[in-house]
Amino acid sequence: MLKLNYKKLLIKKNKIPITCLTAYSKPLANILDGKIDLILIGDSLGTTLYGMQNTRGVTIEMMKNHGKAVVLNTKFSMTIIDMPYNTYRNKKEALKNALDILAFTKADFIKIETDEKNIDIVEHLTKNKIKVVSHIGVTPQKFSNFSRIKSVGKNINEKNNLFNLAKKLESAGSKMIVLECIGIDTSKKITSNLSIPTIGIGSSKYCDGQVLVIDDILNFNSNSKKPKFIKNYINIEKNIDKAVQRFAKEVINRNFPSKKYSYKI
Ligand code: KIV
Repeated sequence: MLKLNYKKLLIKKNKIPITCLTAYSKPLANILDGKIDLILIGDSLGTTLYGMQNTRGVTIEMMKNHGKAVVLNTKFSMTIIDMPYNTYRNKKEALKNALDILAFTKADFIKIETDEKNIDIVEHLTKNKIKVVSHIGVTPQKFSNFSRIKSVGKNINEKNNLFNLAKKLESAGSKMIVLECIGIDTSKKITSNLSIPTIGIGSSKYCDGQVLVIDDILNFNSNSKKPKFIKNYINIEKNIDKAVQRFAKEVINRNFPSKKYSYKI
């Protein structure tokens, strides 16, 4: 198997849906590699791994370390890494930090949350040979309280704004656009009018691909309230719970470690 490249991803548009999941560590990168087209080292690691209330506390150092662990263990899929909050407020800051993150991690794409105010940053990074993925619709870095997140693109104004934004981001050089929590008809219109792939999260099956946070499909953090678009594919917590209980019982009963798990001398 050869490593996926952008040319092959583009061929998938309008033909084969593109798959994307997050990973923040070596074991998960190893599992996803080659089975999923794109592995996203998302700043969602702030809430899923570090237990933060939102993604604003995520640092460049965190992204670099998790990013490197994932990219080093990804041979076939392509990788996307998020720029954290407040690290791309102007062209100079964005370029310096994007180069730093990419030089350290060697990820294929950098993702930034975009709106009308930072299209120039996409253009600037692109001019400097950085492959940018834009993220529109619900952009989590704008929220300090995730329970306030609602879908967007409900009225005609919002729909037109999202469509125009997507078109401008494509012209600015974006290689892909993540559409988060955008209504069906707007996602469909954006996807069919762009020549770059759209990757949806809570934005209908009419996007060119789909992304979810891996912790959500595995049902980690099962006690926290999840948005409507999350599908849980396995209850991994239940299996971990079983293993933990068996280990504790065996230790308490002095059944572990038995001879098999001990050194003779
Ligand atoms: O950080 C992340 O995991 C993301 C996805 C939700 C698209 O940006």
